[in-house]
Amino acid sequence: MQKLIHWVDRRLPIVNAWTRHLSGYYAPKNFNIWYFFGSLAMVVLLNQLITGVWLTMSYNPTAEGAFASVEYIMRDVKWGWLLRYLHSTGASAFFIVVYLHMFRGLMYGSYRKPRELVWLFGMVIYLVLMAEAFMGYLLPWGQMSYWGAQVIINLFGAIPVIGDDLSLWIRGDYLVSGVTLNRFFALHVVALPIVLIGLVVLHILALHEVGSNNPDGIDIKAHKDEQGRPLDGVPFHPYYTVHDLLGVGVFFFVFFLVVFFFPEMGGLFLETPNFEPANPLKTPAHIAPVWYFTPFYAMLRAVTVDLFGLPAKFWGVVVMGSAIALLFVVPWLDRSPVRSIRYKGWLSRIALGVFAVSFVALGYLGLMPATPTRTSVAQVLTAGYFLFFLLMPFYTRWEKTRPVPERVT
Ligand code: HEM
Repeated sequence: MQKLIHWVDRRLPIVNAWTRHLSGYYAPKNFNIWYFFGSLAMVVLLNQLITGVWLTMSYNPTAEGAFASVEYIMRDVKWGWLLRYLHSTGASAFFIVVYLHMFRGLMYGSYRKPRELVWLFGMVIYLVLMAEAFMGYLLPWGQMSYWGAQVIINLFGAIPVIGDDLSLWIRGDYLVSGVTLNRFFALHVVALPIVLIGLVVLHILALHEVGSNNPDGIDIKAHKDEQGRPLDGVPFHPYYTVHDLLGVGVFFFVFFLVVFFFPEMGGLFLETPNFEPANPLKTPAHIAPVWYFTPFYAMLRAVTVDLFGLPAKFWGVVVMGSAIALLFVVPWLDRSPVRSIRYKGWLSRIALGVFAVSFVALGYLGLMPATPTRTSVAQVLTAGYFLFFLLMPFYTRWEKTRPVPERVT
């Protein structure tokens, strides 16, 4: 066995990679529960890939057959209902896990030097994940699939000059049709998963190049033993592999509770109008995207004024786009001398709180039909969301921070 391993290793550095990324990779000792979500995101990604392949075996990507093929999977394919619920619940679980993972980064300043690239790869992952979820949602060809896609693709029409041609190019037709379904299927099942896997590999490689941050934001490489091992770190394997298994166990407990007992989650994970086949002649009374897009949808609807000769819809798209663009540049907005929220001042804490509350409340408002009161509240919350970023260069510099300990205690 030893000889075989040696033979392979001289030709393909598997043992070397194992040492570099697991048994010899030192991670800070003080990870807390917020550090479970990266490995959980990988678990959910794996779940989506495996169940997706098996769903594809029985799914029919045509306007005539898609809806019926999903019903066929649910009723006639052996374990088909389980595959579908694992995949649909997995989609929502992906966003829950990724949102918590991103929030951890914001709390502990994991985006700060030298981890800017880890953050940027993460943000590109987030964009691709949104595209992946959006395209997957069209596939069951229900009423919400159809009209949701119609609304979102039409948003591109708000871009001046090229808008109409752009939405026509995305749809491949004058309205959402079987042509659109076919290309979304190709992108959802082949192209975007490959991009996603590639990005996750880059994300981890970039992280392992500089090492993980931690809840104290301390640099564990500053204190090493004679062998050059960080004193405040432990080898990822076996310590964190076993530790992460605990997280996976707890996660599976909740995940399967949903899969087996609440797969529709009261219309949040599988929306009620989507149990009706797509009908281009009948618009549903209330169109809302799935919950993970609703914070941005609420921002879009919060913009109600035409400005500089351009319609409110255009400015809504600009606000929505900027809300995501700002997340890309946080590494350069944060000027604090410390990384973690534990040692930042009250202004940073309040700002992060305002940001989190605004995001969640906007998500709720985006699910509801718009009323004048709700629109006003959404405008205030949108302002809260943006101020967190726009004022960051100021409050992070002005506030009084607490001294960061030298070592993990
Ligand atoms: C498919 C989605 C993703 C996967 C599989 C993934 C995976 C991981 C893993 C395994 C880690 C190391 C363990 C940990 O720190 O939790 C990590 C760290 C990190 N991720 Fe992600 N990630 C994903 C998406 C994102 C997104 C969307 C962002 C933010 C925009 C992000 C930002 C970060 C940062 C900043 C770190 C370093 C954290 C630290 O050292 O404190 N990731 N990721």
